[in-house]
Formats: sequence, C-alpha cells, structure tokens
Amino acid sequence: MKGILVLLALVVAVTCKENFSGQQVLRILPVTEEEVNLVRELETFEDLRIDFWQGPALPNRYIDIRVPFFALQDVKIYLESNNIQYSIMIHDLQALLDEEEQEMKLGHQMENSRSTNTFNYAVYHTFDEINNFIDTLVAENPGLVSKVVIGNSYQGRPLNVLKFSTGANRPAFWIDTGIHAREWVTPASGLWFAKKIVTDYGRDASLTATLNKMDILLELVTNPDGFVYTHTNDRMWRKTRSPNSGSTCVGADPNRNWDAGFGGAGSSASPCTETYRGTSAHSEPEVRAIVNYVKSHGKIKGFVSIHSYSQMLLYPYGYTSIKAADQVELHALAKTAVDALTSLYGTKYTYGSIITTIYQASGGTVDWTYNQGIKYSYTFELRDTGRYGFALPANQIIPTAEETWLALTKLIEHTRDNI
Ligand SMILES: *[C@@H]1O[C@H](CO)[C@@H](O)[C@H](O)[C@H]1NC(C)=O
Ligand SMILES: [Zn+2]
Repeated sequence: MKGILVLLALVVAVTCKENFSGQQVLRILPVTEEEVNLVRELETFEDLRIDFWQGPALPNRYIDIRVPFFALQDVKIYLESNNIQYSIMIHDLQALLDEEEQEMKLGHQMENSRSTNTFNYAVYHTFDEINNFIDTLVAENPGLVSKVVIGNSYQGRPLNVLKFSTGANRPAFWIDTGIHAREWVTPASGLWFAKKIVTDYGRDASLTATLNKMDILLELVTNPDGFVYTHTNDRMWRKTRSPNSGSTCVGADPNRNWDAGFGGAGSSASPCTETYRGTSAHSEPEVRAIVNYVKSHGKIKGFVSIHSYSQMLLYPYGYTSIKAADQVELHALAKTAVDALTSLYGTKYTYGSIITTIYQASGGTVDWTYNQGIKYSYTFELRDTGRYGFALPANQIIPTAEETWLALTKLIEHTRDNI
C-alpha cells in the first residue's frame, strides 16, 4: 500500500511539473503614473496568469513580467496599443530551466557530499541535500556549529537554523535566505557563507573577533514547503504552501506577513496574487517561528533577510515613508557595504530605504525586526538585474556569494563594534 502511494505521489509529481515552454519575460518601462497603472491592471486579469517578477512600482522603473505562451499575443497588443515601451528579456523560459536542470545533474556527478570540502557549491541543491549539508557541517565542527530547529513549516518540514557560536548567551547576528522559494541563488549563497564562516574562524582576524563576541545565525531554507515545490512542481513558486479557505489558490507571501504595517499598501488581500499577505500577521508558521525565536532570544542585534533579484541593499521602512530613526547610520553603512561588494567584480548595487528604492511594501521582514529594536536590519536583493532573473545560471552562484559576503562582513563588523 505504502509503495503504491509513493509511486502515485511520484507519478503526480512528475506529470504536474510546470512546463514554461514558450513563456517569455517582458521588461516594461512605464514612463508615467498612468502607464504604471495600465500595467498594474494586467494583474487584475487573473485568467492571463501573469507573474510579476519585478514591480509594478514607479514611472521610469522597470517592470518584469512572466507571461504564459497563450497570453503573450494579448499582452503585447495591450502594451503596444497603449504605447508602453517593452522588450523581451527572456525569449523562452523553459530553455533556461532545461539548462539549469542539466547543470544540476552534471554538477552532482562531480560532487562528494559526504564532506563540506568536496560539496559542490557551484550548483543548485535540493532541500534534502541542503539538510544533509547542515548535518555534515555540524558533525565536522562540533565546537563551533550547531543546528537549532526553530519550528516546522506548514507541511511539517523542520525550520533549521545553523548557529555559529563559541560561547554561551552571546548577542547574535541573523541571516536568512530562501524566504521566497524561487530565489534559488540565495540559499545557494548561504551554503557558501556557512563554509566560509567555519573556514575563516581561527584564520581571519575579523571573523574570529566576531565569533568571539557574538553568534551568527543562518537559516538557509526559510520557506521549505515553497522551496521543495519549486523543485517538484513549479520552479517559479514564491509563496508558502498553506491553503487558503474559500480559494483554490495556495500560499501567502512570507515577506508581507509580518506585523509591521500589516495589511497596508504594497500587499494584497487576494490569495491568488504573489503578494497575498495572509489572513493575519504571522499567520504563516515559517514567519511565526522566526518571530518567536527573535523574541525569546532577545539579543539579536543585526538581521539580514536575503532575496533576489535586482542588486539592491535596503533598510527600513517599506510600509511607511517616515524615515527610520537611524536612517543616517543605516544609509552610511549600506554605502560601505555596497562599496565592498562592488570592489570584487564591479557588480553595481543601488541602496536606500525599501519604499524609496524599490516600492512600498507592507508587512515585510526587516520593518518588523527594526521595530523590535534590531537596529541593523537589512534586506539584500542579489544578482542579477533581470537578464536571467530567478533563473540565474549556477555559474554565478560562487561569484554572487563571494561579493555578497564582503558586504555582509561590513554589516556584521559594524554591528559587532556597536553593541
Ligand atoms: C515542454 O513542452 C514543450 C512543448 O510542448 C515540449 O517540447 C517539451 O519537451 C516540454 N518540456 C518538458 C521538460 O516537459
Ligand atoms: Zn524575494
């Protein structure tokens, strides 16, 4: 019986995998408020199943949309008849994803995952592989790394946090990756950060000083149900996987679910949208687990939530245009961090508050952490600026991780030196 069920589940998983053949990603440049609103209206035609990768935000900012094959003609005619500029950024999304899958297969052939030394950081990994990595890293570094399970996802998967610590009751710096399921380069970078930390401790003076004063906490797969779903069913899934009563649409946006301007502009009340905020603040177990952990910990001094894409470093607020009390310091530190990042490969970042740099977003992670008194609260949007978007080729994982680590180091050092 169990065998049949497993087989059935496998058949369903295989046959239900979303095929993005012929789907395009269009980059739109609205130049007036009216054009922004015209593009925004596309969101209300739910039958077109348009997926906003970026925006809609302000005039003269790019909006990237993924359009199913059947809707392409209609959408292009709509844009052209309204004289709205656009270009085709990705001609056939499935072609990119086929390459990604091929690289994943090849990459795993060249990997021995029984040691973090022979683990292949240059390919994307599954949830199970990441959990194996976590256990291996802990086993290899018993005095330095431990695993804290802060809760379970809606579907019961463990919410694993790596804790790098050399003493009890220390203040801590939090980093999370993968809160949006499809942003694969973020947990992939997180794996590299984890290895970097254990490698540098005792060798690099600054990192050693950091870990002699405070802990680093790293949640690699912050939205495990969504992440698994991107591997099994829909590579472009973003939200959690909790059901919504009265709707066939699944999941809430875990970056609109926090109790910071919850329900405000820049979040949606409709379960079928990508920015659906959920029924109430902290309704998603993946969010609630972090909330409870942060509150009970009481000494988290820096908090970085990592997303992709668009190459930005952002600080609060997102839900209000009122400036954060520490705006001047946060901005100066963001500049220092971005300068460090850019110094490695020349990757250009923009930085500033969420609402002024990207768009108004209510119920976001770092607005909540900042209001909890975690002064050094930041969000990254990693590579790229849209050429590949969420389908960033795996050969960019290590460069992305390396440059991001330089920025993170600045944020961590500043936090360490100001607590
Ligand atoms: C996706 O659909 C296209 C066209 O219908 C087909 O040629 C291709 O084999 C499919 N790809 C996958 C991975 O199923
Ligand atoms: Zn995101």
